[in-house]
Amino acid sequence: MTAAGPERRAADAPDLPPAALAALGVGLVAVLGALALTFGSFGLGTKNRGASADNVHPAADPGVWTEVIAPDTPFRFPHQLPVADGRTQVLPRADELAGACQVCHDTIAAEWSRSQHALAWVDEHFQASLAERRRPEACYGCHAPEPLHGAGRRFGSAPYVRDAAVEEWHFGVSCATCHLGPDGTTWLGPSADAAAPHPAAQGESFVGVASNRLCIDCHRTDVGPVLGIAKEYERSDFAARGIGCVQCHFAPTERPSAAGAAVRSGRSHELLGPRHSDFLAQAFALEATRREDGTVGLAVTNRAGHRVPGLVGRELRFAVRLLNATGAETVRTAFQFDAENTLALGETREFELGGSGAIVHVVGEHAAPGLAEPVRFLELRLEVAAGVGR
Ligand code: HEC
Ligand code: HEC
Ligand code: HEC
Ligand code: HEC
Ligand code: HEC
Repeated sequence: MTAAGPERRAADAPDLPPAALAALGVGLVAVLGALALTFGSFGLGTKNRGASADNVHPAADPGVWTEVIAPDTPFRFPHQLPVADGRTQVLPRADELAGACQVCHDTIAAEWSRSQHALAWVDEHFQASLAERRRPEACYGCHAPEPLHGAGRRFGSAPYVRDAAVEEWHFGVSCATCHLGPDGTTWLGPSADAAAPHPAAQGESFVGVASNRLCIDCHRTDVGPVLGIAKEYERSDFAARGIGCVQCHFAPTERPSAAGAAVRSGRSHELLGPRHSDFLAQAFALEATRREDGTVGLAVTNRAGHRVPGLVGRELRFAVRLLNATGAETVRTAFQFDAENTLALGETREFELGGSGAIVHVVGEHAAPGLAEPVRFLELRLEVAAGVGR
């Protein structure tokens, strides 16, 4: 067991495998909601991380973060705004979307407008890096892409820049990129029975893990500061277990997908990522173990669907303190993961703390281009468990 006190019970509580929970979709939220309530009463909560009043998503139930991080614990989907890093957070002029999708799909358009996909072209970090390139046009394809299902286009390679007025590149990875069908008029989606006032049909790329193909073409290439992390996902067993990119990065929701339509189970277009601290924390399972010789080791396991992190300049820093039974510090150490030293898909990295103690106190901080100061995304007190000797 990894965590101390009530956390430990929380880690035990969800005994469904993650895949089964993911399959439950909205049920997952309910299960975790119940967990959150239970552990709220132990006084665990949101302080020091994430969900303080100023970064809880205005349109969402704030949720409660439980201090549960273990390899088998399912993902939670925090309702949290991304860290304020001084860059644009909501796409300006989203109400000018081509096709006026937002008139009817208002909720989805609002979710998308604050995603890194909507911001992919205007993003200040991207624009600044273009200025350093001799051939910036090589960078346009994934940041202002053509429709992925376009006539004659085959999945398996990065998209080209869309053939539209330059002004339209403003809308980044747009609705049409993912949803426009090969005939150029039908909108493809997950439902076989959509009652739409426009041509709509069920698309293979929206059903279950087949939606991975919507993500992989842009996310598998090393380019500029980007590590093509989808390559590792493709080598993993996540797809076989029914867990696609969408299942981790798009939070489950239940709502009408268009004004006046029936309520459906769907997924939010908000796109959770490393800027959402409570989401980022879930990339790591931590376990503190006592060796035969009495010294303590800390094991860090990657729970994401790919290596961590995925961007040059992103640093995930851990400050670790080993405390004895009276709370006095016996060892202090630090390590970090970054583009030069990623935590590989499924990897467990062992750190020898080189001393003895009863509690390991871990603080995780996220530093990235654009962040003036590192942001704390994790704080945990782990009870040291007896382990296998080395
Ligand atoms: C006049 C209102 C209206 C406009 C404008 C509109 N839609 Fe729709 N759309 C709907 C309705 C209503 C549905 C059916 C919803 C349902 O049955 O749950 C729908 C269905 C869809 C679906 C299928 C959803 C599924 O569950 O499979 C997609 C995809 C879609 N719209 C995309 C778009 C995009 C992209 C735009 C902008 C280019 C757009 N729509 C513009 C009203 C609209
Ligand atoms: C094959 C698709 C693709 C191409 C081509 C591409 N990018 Fe990107 N870019 C991405 C993806 C995917 C991300 C998100 C990576 C992440 O956040 O981990 C991204 C993110 C970025 C970011 C980071 C933005 C942030 O959130 O801080 C910068 C900067 C960037 N790209 C610059 C470039 C430059 C410069 C080029 C041209 C040399 C380029 N990109 C070409 C797919 C692409
Ligand atoms: C990066 C690709 C991507 C982009 C960009 C995108 N979508 Fe989606 N969309 C999806 C996926 C994947 C699903 C299916 C989610 C699921 O499994 O339920 C979906 C589902 C939908 C649905 C079905 C109903 C629902 O509630 O989930 C509608 C309608 C829709 N999208 C409209 C839009 C509109 C409008 C935009 C632009 C504002 C947009 N999408 C942008 C990938 C995308
Ligand atoms: C057309 C190319 C394209 C497609 C398709 C695409 N992405 Fe992205 N994605 C990008 C780019 C470009 C960025 C980074 C934008 C930026 O920060 O400048 C990005 C950003 C992200 C991020 C946020 C990273 C961060 O730093 O916060 C996540 C998570 C992500 N994408 C997941 C997905 C998933 C899941 C899908 C499939 C449903 C998908 N993407 C489809 C191009 C794409
Ligand atoms: C099991 C859940 C899970 C799956 C499956 C998953 N991811 Fe992630 N992803 C995460 C977590 C947690 C993070 C935050 C850690 C990080 O930033 O590396 C993350 C981070 C990212 C980032 C930002 C990386 C960075 O540090 O800049 C991108 C982009 C991304 N994922 C895209 C994808 C795509 C595309 C897929 C499918 C090919 C995918 N993810 C599958 C959990 C998952």
